[in-house]
Amino acid sequence: MMSDKRNILVLGSGGREHALSWKIAQSPLLGSLYCAPGNGGMAEIAENLALDMADHQAVITFCQEKAIDLVIIGPEAPLVAGLADDLTAAGIAAFGPGKIAAQLEGSKGYTKDLCAEADIPTAAYGRFDNACAALEYLDSQSAPIVVKADGLAAGKGVIIAEDMKTARDAVEEIFDGAFGDAGAELVIEEFMTGEEASFFVLCDGENALPLATAQDHKRVGDGDTGPNTGGMGAYSPASIMTPALIDTAMEKIIHPTLAAMARRGAPYRGVLYAGLMLTDDGPKLVEYNARFGDPECQVLMMRLKSDIVPVLEASASGSVAEMTLDWHDEIAMTVVMAAAGYPGAYEKGSTIGLEAVGDDIMVFHAGTARAEDGTISATGGRVLNVTARGKTVAQAQASAYAGVDKIDWPQGFCRRDIGYREIEREME
Ligand code: AMP
Ligand code: GLY
Repeated sequence: MMSDKRNILVLGSGGREHALSWKIAQSPLLGSLYCAPGNGGMAEIAENLALDMADHQAVITFCQEKAIDLVIIGPEAPLVAGLADDLTAAGIAAFGPGKIAAQLEGSKGYTKDLCAEADIPTAAYGRFDNACAALEYLDSQSAPIVVKADGLAAGKGVIIAEDMKTARDAVEEIFDGAFGDAGAELVIEEFMTGEEASFFVLCDGENALPLATAQDHKRVGDGDTGPNTGGMGAYSPASIMTPALIDTAMEKIIHPTLAAMARRGAPYRGVLYAGLMLTDDGPKLVEYNARFGDPECQVLMMRLKSDIVPVLEASASGSVAEMTLDWHDEIAMTVVMAAAGYPGAYEKGSTIGLEAVGDDIMVFHAGTARAEDGTISATGGRVLNVTARGKTVAQAQASAYAGVDKIDWPQGFCRRDIGYREIEREME
């Protein structure tokens, strides 16, 4: 059995991992908190380490040396590489799915086949491992249509083709290696219309505990213009995901997925992030991720009142069936500040002044480093997540941007309209 206090290791270096670490650091159950590699914000609440996540034995050895009770695996790559299985086999509890279960994110074709098998609502599709068959399938389809590289492509492997030439070009490019190994196979999908929402559930292999809904803003520019990014801001909850829609999503999408994974001998543990399209025919699955969203996690952690450690532990190695969570009723919003040029080329090394930001605002760090004298500098594309709560979306937004305006970082920028759709709805 575990001792009273848990030593916890968080793997990752984004705003997501800072938000998780921040929440974990508030737990009375916490012993020591370690982060690898961590960032400038995590350095203030944990010990940052230079551990190579790809070296599973090095992670296991570290956990044994430091008597780590629980490892939180933040990003998808180590999950798809089977780190959770290797930790579990070494007797170390790991939060996140094993290698096969992580295929729900690691292979779009795997997920589409699972949806077909379990009758889960999603776009009609074809799955191909050669251009000839894919192009022949396209001849029977019409635009708009969606072409997706099968594997992990850092969010870039999806082409929404407005015409058939673009779709055919996408097929050729993917099989010509535009996305490397991730494009050894591809999926062609019917284009779905509706509004998108993210839905997060915590799973223990059998049961699912609904966490919360959120909406992200993927485009870099105001009004959803410009290239896609990892996400420029988010809020939670998403009012468009009504309680009735949540029930439908649990019944038609989440539960059948968990049952199908269990039947396949790969029960799903960890957080399951469903990207949903709210169509006229009800919610349909766009994609699964095997991890928390970034920046969605930041708003979830800002709203969560309960201690997170018991539920992470239950998901990793126990049961979430009897668990409940308390949430702040308020809306949480996070605004991402990125380095000028992102998602293209950007400069690193500029200094960030955070001293003027008040206690009501939480600034989660992403690409930052902290020098010994406490100076924070930018080291990545997405750099800060300025996060606030409010009674209304408009109030949360006003607070978040008031926080942004107190940050002294001329080399950074942000979208100025995070939550605009929700604020329009709120005003109706
Ligand atoms: P994914 O990486 O699968 O989430 O795709 C990235 C984005 O492409 C999604 O968030 C949607 O905005 C869009 N998308 C993906 N698949 C479809 C689809 N079948 N119909 C419409 N939009 C889609
Ligand atoms: N914010 C989108 C994602 O984490 O995939």
